[in-house]
Amino acid sequence: MTNVKLSDGNEMPIIGLGTYEAKPVEALNAVMNAIDVGYRHFDCALTYQNEKEVGLAIKEKIVDGTVKREDIFVTSKVWSTYHRRAKVLECCNLSLKALGLDYLDLYLVHWPISYKEGSELHPVNDKGEVLIENIEFQEIWKGMEDCYDKGLVKSIGLSNFNSEQIKSILSICRIKPTVLQVECHPYLQQNKLIQFCASHEISVTAYSPLGTPNRSWAKPNEPAVMEDPRIKEIADKHKKSPAQILLRFNVQRGISVIPKSVRVERIRSNFEIFDFELTSEDMNVISSFKENYRYCHMNWLKDVPNFPFNIEY
Ligand SMILES: NC(=O)c1ccc[n+]([C@@H]2O[C@H](COP(=O)([O-])OP(=O)(O)OC[C@H]3O[C@@H](n4cnc5c(N)ncnc54)[C@H](OP(=O)(O)O)[C@@H]3O)[C@@H](O)[C@H]2O)c1
Repeated sequence: MTNVKLSDGNEMPIIGLGTYEAKPVEALNAVMNAIDVGYRHFDCALTYQNEKEVGLAIKEKIVDGTVKREDIFVTSKVWSTYHRRAKVLECCNLSLKALGLDYLDLYLVHWPISYKEGSELHPVNDKGEVLIENIEFQEIWKGMEDCYDKGLVKSIGLSNFNSEQIKSILSICRIKPTVLQVECHPYLQQNKLIQFCASHEISVTAYSPLGTPNRSWAKPNEPAVMEDPRIKEIADKHKKSPAQILLRFNVQRGISVIPKSVRVERIRSNFEIFDFELTSEDMNVISSFKENYRYCHMNWLKDVPNFPFNIEY
């Protein structure tokens, strides 16, 4: 397995296990299985509500001697109801406590829209509309820098920010973001955003790299990237699965991937992407896909200030 070198000198394994929508007990077993398979990178968030079990699994694997803390790369994310400077630190401490860790390897701003502070992760009014708060990016990022200064996190970064929003952060930051985590797969290749990030030494991580096939908000007749016949053809040629082709495509262009699975066979096979190579012809075929289809569109927030997906990239 290879690592990605971040601009601050830290290294991040190019493949990690996603944990979104893993039920607590599933997350516990998935992380233990993943460590046995060889995963060393785990993508977490306060809002996934399973950090306690992820942490228990890591602890178990440290106690049984399989890994040491320093072998493992753990990412978490500050949630939108914790965007005030002091709250960012509070959120980071909540994740550390739940995970049972004394530092995170990477801490990300989960989403550029700030929600009303309080006990609800998704505060809504009577009509079900999300309650928004107006918090400057500078305020959020100062909180991220506080986490870094206190040694709670080794690297800081962003998720779901567009290029204009990243520029705003770059214009006010003391410590630069090292990573941008965004949806990315052959149906949403993010070439312009990746190029923009490269020009600012920001490493891109692909979330939903399999096209998040079991998402709860799916509509009938949406295109499914894992079922694309062109992907299947390449998979058959290499005697690999479509999922392995999707992951290998991103890894081969230097994009880290965090596929989620709670099934040990898939956890294992998603990791078996280092024993073959896509040819330049395969890469060209996939690069020519024109779907530009976003699964995690969050359209219900499209009229809210700071909604990130209203511009091209
Ligand atoms: N920053 C953000 O805003 C953000 C947003 C979305 C996701 N993420 C992160 O990225 C991770 C991955 O994204 P995701 O969970 O949305 O989607 P994904 O990894 O693209 O797809 C996960 C789904 O695919 C299934 N699956 C996994 N391996 C498979 C295989 N080999 N063949 C067939 N199906 C397979 C899984 O089911 P089983 O579990 O049943 O195997 C799961 O339902 C998340 O878990 C989370 O950590 C971050």
